[in-house]
Amino acid sequence: MDFKTAVANEILAAMRAAFEGAQLPGAEAVAGALEVPPDSAMGDYAFPCFKLSKALKKSPMMIADALAGAIHAPFLGKVESVKGYLNFFIDKATYAEKVIGLALEQGERYGADDSGAGKTVVLDYSSINIAKRFHIGHLSTTMIGNSLYRLHKFFGWRAVGVNHLGDWGTQFGKMIAAYKRWGDHDTVAAGGVDEMVKLYVRFNEEAKANEALNDEGRAWFKKIEDGDPEALEIFNWFKSVTLKDAERVYDLLGVTFDSYAGESFYNDKMGPVIDALREKNLLKEDDGAQIVDLSDWGMPPALILRSDGATLYMTRDLAAAKYRKDTYNFDKSLYVVAYQQDLHFRQLFKVLELMGYDWAKDCEHVAFGMVSFEGGALSTREGHVVYLDDLLHQAIDKARAIIEEKSPELENKDEVARQIGIGAVVFFDLYNNRIKDIDFTWERALNFDGETGPYCMYTHARACSVLRKAGGADASSPDFAALSDPCSQDVVRLIEQFPDILKSAVNRSEPSMVTRFAVDLAQAFNKFYYENKVMVDEPGTRAARLLLTDATRQVLKQALYLIGVEAPERM
Ligand code: ARG
Repeated sequence: MDFKTAVANEILAAMRAAFEGAQLPGAEAVAGALEVPPDSAMGDYAFPCFKLSKALKKSPMMIADALAGAIHAPFLGKVESVKGYLNFFIDKATYAEKVIGLALEQGERYGADDSGAGKTVVLDYSSINIAKRFHIGHLSTTMIGNSLYRLHKFFGWRAVGVNHLGDWGTQFGKMIAAYKRWGDHDTVAAGGVDEMVKLYVRFNEEAKANEALNDEGRAWFKKIEDGDPEALEIFNWFKSVTLKDAERVYDLLGVTFDSYAGESFYNDKMGPVIDALREKNLLKEDDGAQIVDLSDWGMPPALILRSDGATLYMTRDLAAAKYRKDTYNFDKSLYVVAYQQDLHFRQLFKVLELMGYDWAKDCEHVAFGMVSFEGGALSTREGHVVYLDDLLHQAIDKARAIIEEKSPELENKDEVARQIGIGAVVFFDLYNNRIKDIDFTWERALNFDGETGPYCMYTHARACSVLRKAGGADASSPDFAALSDPCSQDVVRLIEQFPDILKSAVNRSEPSMVTRFAVDLAQAFNKFYYENKVMVDEPGTRAARLLLTDATRQVLKQALYLIGVEAPERM
């Protein structure tokens, strides 16, 4: 049992004893009301008695006094009544023993529970566009999605990761037209997405002077839609070339998907949705187009069909939402997409609701802010777009140089450089509350001393090294009283909070809570390590400090894993 529950149980028992016959709150309400004071001098937990005042017809101070007098549990060092609060001081040695014991006993499962068992979450993330390079604008969706995917799995959910590819639109007709005119197979095969982009840029340049080109583009697009074999063959090849490029980035980042069903996947699945809209009398004609009027909810209309009958992004998302419900029967469907698409998703969810799908309430837009690079939006100051694979490889090179300087005799330098470089970028991306805009700077991302990935990874490696030198943690006769000092207690307290942090991170779809936690734990551990010598002669003290080191190592590694960052054992 964790301490929070144990404390809540003590309060419940004391309330029943002290206020027999009164209307008392239940176990859950008591546990929910428990606070962790900002300063440990005020206790490890505090129970505010203000809300009980009315039901018990006593002042909060009197209630707290009565409860304090009725609680005597060996694991509690002290229970204090202060100004209507009941402050609990857990016996420090017991606290350390229980927390470290639980963490090490549960190992990799520490912090998890099975609250997601039997439930399914669909996550739409990364969702890149075909024939475009993967640039840093798609980093956040990829990494937030990946972290939420891992977090849900950790809590026992079945997670379905969907890369809703942007693989439909008139631009693909233009691209094929350009390819037919000026392109050749080998150049595109060798140059990948860059070659496709070149063709597209040239097409638009030449179309300015030659309007007939646009008709050609439209004609090719129509062929794709009609399933013309040649058009489809070229288009599918463009798609596989793009995905091969993207796959390299996903491999570097350690990101995977269960489905690549993108916009074009819904070509033949929109009919029923449009029929349903019509049956429910939701479709309205507007200037030849078909729309759903959302003015009652203060939103512009949702565009379903253009006047030429063409479907839209919205139409495809409606079909996709329905398909996901039918196929996966999700309990929760998350869309990890930039906040610029906020209106789109509010419209989407509203239309689903109007269609009578009660599961519309289970759909959520996990919005995030913009990434800029060294002060310039999505591009360097010189105006170059920052491509993700370039950024990642630069990060690896820089990490490699740092390793060369700091630990020249490290064995697997390339592997560790990859872990640190990628980890630095990912960590930086997930460090702030997701809705905030972020400006990526090398200076801050790769700093080994700041609140960064490399700092946390380094702390983990340090813990590993301490344990290695000690020949593993000797748990035979630890003296947990040796962990009563404030620095050790801070580490213990963070380890204890890990399960709660993870729960909040899942409930709020907020990986940054885990990132921040990793920094807090790394800082606390380094302070502990600075203040306390681990390898002392006294075996009880040494064993206790080694166990604390081991628990820190394990929790830090798990926290980093859950945000998609690897933790090398040596660096
Ligand atoms: N491809 C889109 C973009 O890059 C994101 C798609 C998000 N997912 C969705 N179901 N709309 O902006």
